[in-house]
Amino acid sequence: MIELRGIGRDYASGDATVHALSDVDLEIETGEMLTLLGPSGSGKSTLLHLLGCLDRPTHGSYHLLGRDVSRLDRNQLAAVRGEQIGFVFQRFHLMPRSTALENVALPLRFAGVGARERRARAADLLRRVGLEDRRHHRPAELSGGQQQRVAIARALAADPPLILADEPTGNLDSQVGGEIVDLLLELHSEGRTVVVITHDEGLAARTERTVRLLDGRVFADERVAPDNG
Ligand SMILES: Nc1ncnc2c1ncn2[C@@H]1O[C@H](COP(=O)(O)OP(=O)(O)O)[C@@H](O)[C@H]1O
Ligand SMILES: [Mg+2]
Repeated sequence: MIELRGIGRDYASGDATVHALSDVDLEIETGEMLTLLGPSGSGKSTLLHLLGCLDRPTHGSYHLLGRDVSRLDRNQLAAVRGEQIGFVFQRFHLMPRSTALENVALPLRFAGVGARERRARAADLLRRVGLEDRRHHRPAELSGGQQQRVAIARALAADPPLILADEPTGNLDSQVGGEIVDLLLELHSEGRTVVVITHDEGLAARTERTVRLLDGRVFADERVAPDNG
């Protein structure tokens, strides 16, 4: 599904250049779930932004579902994101004035789905993540774990094959974080491709593959039997 070849991402920072990623080669099969692990500043978010077509590499090529997306323009990248990719962020990134239902329905509006159908599908997705009784709550009226469930429902709205999550449990206590990981594992078991950034070795142990970054390079790519005891 994903093929990165010789990927580099440089940032200009004053007079200096920061090599946030260098020489990254990575292949991800359809239906795989993996964690991206590495210390702060190792390039995890930069890599996730590239995978998510939020940014383009300075060097190298990126094929997503057979298509070279490394040289697309902004509008083309936005179209790829809308169809193929669902995002989950550490700080949830929900619209504060909108209800849970409206937050989940929003991507469907961009996809041109009519109002009645949007509401029905968003209600289904909220049921799916266990929040049918919180449809009309705003983010501030929900716990952190509930907000992340809304964000996951929103990520699923356009039924994308690829889910990208950047520290999805970083703002949650360990029990609630574990429930969010359960939900991500469920999406994987349904055949979605899931990439999760984390600092948490315990979370990494629950996925079949762990890619470790250090100083902008892949320094280990491990496959082990997941521990979901
Ligand atoms: N927009 C930017 N401009 C300049 N440097 C950046 C920018 N974004 C990230 N960096 C630098 O790139 C490196 C990798 O950052 P990042 O991908 O955010 O790491 P991580 O997510 O692993 O903490 C860091 O040294 C960071 O300071
Ligand atoms: Mg980061």
